[in-house]
Parts: sequence; C-alpha cells; structure tokens
Amino acid sequence: MTAAAAASTPAAARPVLQARDLQRFYEVSRGPFRAVATVKALNGASFDLYPGKTLAVVGESGCGKSTLARLVTMIEPPTGGSLLIDGKEAQQATTELRRAIQIVFQNPYGSLNPRQKIGTILEEPLLINTDENPAARRARAQAMLARVGLRPEHYDRYPHMFSGGQRQRIAIARALMLQPKILVLDEPVSALDVSIQAQVLNILMDLQAEFGLAYLFISHDLSVVKHLADDIMVMYLGKPVETGPAAEVFAAPRHPYTAALLSATPVADPMAKKAQIRLEGELPSPMNPPTGCAFNPRCWLAQDRCRREEPALEGAGERRKACFYPLG
Ligand SMILES: Nc1ncnc2c1ncn2[C@@H]1O[C@H](COP(=O)(O)OP(=O)(O)O)[C@@H](O)[C@H]1O
Ligand SMILES: [Mg+2]
Repeated sequence: MTAAAAASTPAAARPVLQARDLQRFYEVSRGPFRAVATVKALNGASFDLYPGKTLAVVGESGCGKSTLARLVTMIEPPTGGSLLIDGKEAQQATTELRRAIQIVFQNPYGSLNPRQKIGTILEEPLLINTDENPAARRARAQAMLARVGLRPEHYDRYPHMFSGGQRQRIAIARALMLQPKILVLDEPVSALDVSIQAQVLNILMDLQAEFGLAYLFISHDLSVVKHLADDIMVMYLGKPVETGPAAEVFAAPRHPYTAALLSATPVADPMAKKAQIRLEGELPSPMNPPTGCAFNPRCWLAQDRCRREEPALEGAGERRKACFYPLG
C-alpha cells in the first residue's frame, strides 16, 4: 500500500480485532501425587482494536500479557471466549487470517535464525505464502529493509553482525513482509538499551502511519507506551482492571493499581509533583488468587467488601475500572 492509499483509508471504521471474554487456563501438576491445579493465565479479556490505532496492554510480569499475545496470534487456542480477526472467527485460523496478524517478540537474539542471511529471513514468508519470483522477493525485502532504516548491503549479512536495536528492526521488517493488518508487539523494546528504545518506537510509529497498521503493544513499562498508545488496558493477575483512552488513563488513573504503576514510572521532569505510591508485597500466584478483588492484599484503599466480593470491569463510555473504591 502506498502512503497516499493509507492516508485515504477511513480511520477507525470497523475493528480489526475483537476479543470477548478471552480466557486461557492451564492445568498444571504441582508435583507427583499432588492434585492438578488450574492456572488462570488469562481470565476474561474483552477489547476492540481499530486500524491505524495502538492498544497498549500493561501490567507486571506474570499478569497474562504474553498469553494474550499467543491467543490473538493463534499460536495457541483460547480455552474460553471468542476472537474475531478482521471480522472472521479466529478458530478457523485460515492462511489468510494468519497473514493478517503477525508478532514481534521481546528477544531479537532468539527470534532470528543465526545461520540465515537477513535477505533469506525476510524472504522466507514470501517463499512460503506467495508465488513471487526471486527478483520480486529480493526487491520487496530490500524495500522493507529501507523502511526500517537499514541499508541494502545488510541484505547479505547475518544476524550476529547487527546490534540489538537493528535486530529488532529486522524482526519488525520480517513481520511486515506479508502486509499484515495487525502487529502484536510483545515487549518489543524491553531488551534494548533505553537510548535505542526511542529509535525503534519511532520507526514503529512511522510504519503505523504509512501502512495503517493496528498495534497490540504489550509492555510492563508504562513510560514505553505513553507516546504511542491510543487506548490502554491495564492487567492484573489475568484480568483487565482498567481500560480507556490512554491520555485519560495517564492523566487520571481510577484503579489504585494503575496509579501505583504510574507512580513507579519515571517522569521527564524530575521536579513534577507525583504521588509516590509504593506497591507492597508480591504479585499473588494465579494458581491461588486472593478472594474478592485480586489486588486487595496490596491495596492501601481496600475495605471489607474488597476482600469478599470481586469487582466487575464497569464504567461510563470507554473508561472502565474494576474497583469498588476508585480514585478521582
Ligand atoms: N504453558 C503454561 N503452563 C502453565 N502456566 C503458564 C503457561 N504459560 C503461562 N503460564 C502462567 O500464566 C501466567 C501469565 O503468564 P504470561 O502470560 O507469560 O505473563 P506476562 O507475559 O504478563 O509476564 C504466569 O503465572 C505464568 O506462569
Ligand atoms: Mg510476557
């Protein structure tokens, strides 16, 4: 697609990704002679993702972000709920649907085959999925290299000859070779130096504008998603606890967990006044979640009701929170 074509595409027409009460439970054995336990890695996530937009999914390690990424990319099936990709049931997992949604993982070292040249890596999806001739494949790979800020001579080099940031750009280029509509980015800059992170984020924003891509951007770090998220979904122990337009959630978080995450995020202006909230205690095990609100053992606002009842994700309009005693 040309830049002009992308620009004339109506924004936010119909969601490219619709998840309803998406779940993934795992049965795990806790040792010989012991009963099987259920890990509710993802316990009900509903959201819409629109063309050209970014939905950021944030939360501490272990809250179910990568599980969500594996479900929406059809690497594994959900154990409950429904998923529509480009308006079609993801259960079908047709070749066409698989092409529509691609993933970039955190670790650019592990995701590129060290024995393949960059050109081969980029052309592999074309070789498998299209009948383009070698010259056409090469032209497309080189064009995509340029799009991610790499040079034509990089085509003949091996992954070990690149820096971490360059490798992640190669992984992004590979994910885009089949012109997907959706890119799932699972902690795409978390393994990179802070100085390199902004470069990769800028390239992602340019690519989104050029191709009208929808991003499901996963991060444990709110400062990473601040500049590119349109909407945000904050997760805790397998469940969304706050959702809404990113600017509104950043400006005035309503769930105490969101406020705590924001408080832990460094700000550009060190003199800016910010409530200091320290998250006490460990993230509970999803095998044995607390009764009531899962966040209650760590919450400074928790009352009796929070220890007995589980709050539903509710709210007016697009902003929702799962909390009996929200902030603001
Ligand atoms: N295949 C699996 N079998 C059992 N438990 C799993 C499996 N995959 C993930 N989990 C558990 O599910 C929870 C969520 O994991 P994950 O989705 O990787 O979280 P995140 O990406 O947010 O760190 C964790 O408690 C993790 O141990
Ligand atoms: Mg993860």
